[in-house]
Parts: sequence; structure tokens; C-alpha cells
Amino acid sequence: MQILITYSSGFGTTREVAEKIGQILQQADLLSVDLLPIDEVSTVAPYDTVILGSSIRAGHPLANMVDFIALHRHHLESKRVAIFLVCLCANSEEGRCKAMEDQLPQLLRRFPNLHPFAVEAFGGKIDFDKLNPVMRKLMRHVLEQSGLPADGSVDTRDWKLIEQWALRLRDELASAARTSPVTADK
Ligand SMILES: Cc1cc2nc3c(=O)[nH]c(=O)nc-3n(C[C@H](O)[C@H](O)[C@H](O)COP(=O)(O)O)c2cc1C
Repeated sequence: MQILITYSSGFGTTREVAEKIGQILQQADLLSVDLLPIDEVSTVAPYDTVILGSSIRAGHPLANMVDFIALHRHHLESKRVAIFLVCLCANSEEGRCKAMEDQLPQLLRRFPNLHPFAVEAFGGKIDFDKLNPVMRKLMRHVLEQSGLPADGSVDTRDWKLIEQWALRLRDELASAARTSPVTADK
């Protein structure tokens, strides 16, 4: 089974999560994984499964992720699609649920024929030193809401949770690869 993991990442946090998911999926013999930043993907046609990852800014997935889904939606609608979001609000069970209840439906409402088989939200990371003053101000607000320190480097990624999600995907996709025909466009 041909799998594309593609991500939109401002400062590399989502890329690192995508890389971890890719490493785990590659452990299954039947799964062949390409991992690419979203701006480097010109077609999804060769893939049976597409895993989309984006960080959240100001309550929304990054614009190039939304544009990508819009551009490739007809292809994506006929494939297995999984989506993960990375944001500071998802730093707890409650925050993850809220991200899944708020940000994910907001995205999927725009693409009613897209029915992901797996979705998840993971905690993110922020380095205050890398932000410009406007971003810092925005982030202070987000961090205050999340009860996190608004200073230095804050990493709320739960790698165990990310691994568990990737393992579930790996097993589900490997099982599908054994039993069902491929859906890549020929
Ligand atoms: C300008 C800006 C706005 C952000 N807005 C939000 C937000 O609304 N909600 C949230 O939970 N996290 C927010 N974050 C935190 C990011 O989602 C988090 O830092 C994520 O790990 C960034 O991943 P990336 O490096 O892959 O872009 C924001 C970060 C920045 C820089």
C-alpha cells in the first residue's frame, strides 16, 4: 500500500510528529511511505492512503493545508484519509477533545465528502525566542488559556500518545493492505 504523509508546519513541530508517524508506519512490510512537506506534493494520485498533518494558528489549520485539500479534494474523497492537528491547546485530554470538537469539524465542514478514517490532535511546541512581537502577543493569550508558561520553550507533545496513534494506523493499514484492493489511481 502506497501511503503519503504530508504536513504543513511553521516551525518544524508538525514535521517532527509526521516523521515519527512515518517511522512507525514503515515498520510494516506491506506499507510504503512517502513523507513530504505539503508544498512539495503535486499529486495524490499514486497513493492509496493520505495522512494530512497541520499545526493550528489562531484557531485554524495553516492555510496551505486547507488550500491543498481544496485542490485535491476529488482525489482525496476516494482514498483513505487520516488527519492530525498539532496545537498547544491539545496539551491535555480535555484540550485534545476540544481541538477535535472545534478545529476539526470547522475544517471538515468545508469538505463534506471527505470522511477521514482516523483523526487526532496532539500537543504542540513553541519557542518564544523565534516569534516576532505580534506572534508573541497572540501566543501569550493561547498559553494563558491553556495554563502553560508564556516564556522560553514549551513542548507539550506527548510522544507516547503519538506513537500509540501511529501504531493503530500501522496495524489498520497493514490489515487493509492484506485484505482489500488498492485505491491508488492507475
Ligand atoms: C502565530 C501563532 C498562533 C498560534 N495559535 C494557536 C492557537 O490558536 N491555538 C493553539 O492551540 N495553538 C496555537 N499556536 C501554537 C502552535 O499550534 C504550536 O506552536 C505548534 O506546535 C506549531 O507547530 P509548527 O511548528 O508545526 O507550525 C500558535 C502558534 C503561533 C506561532
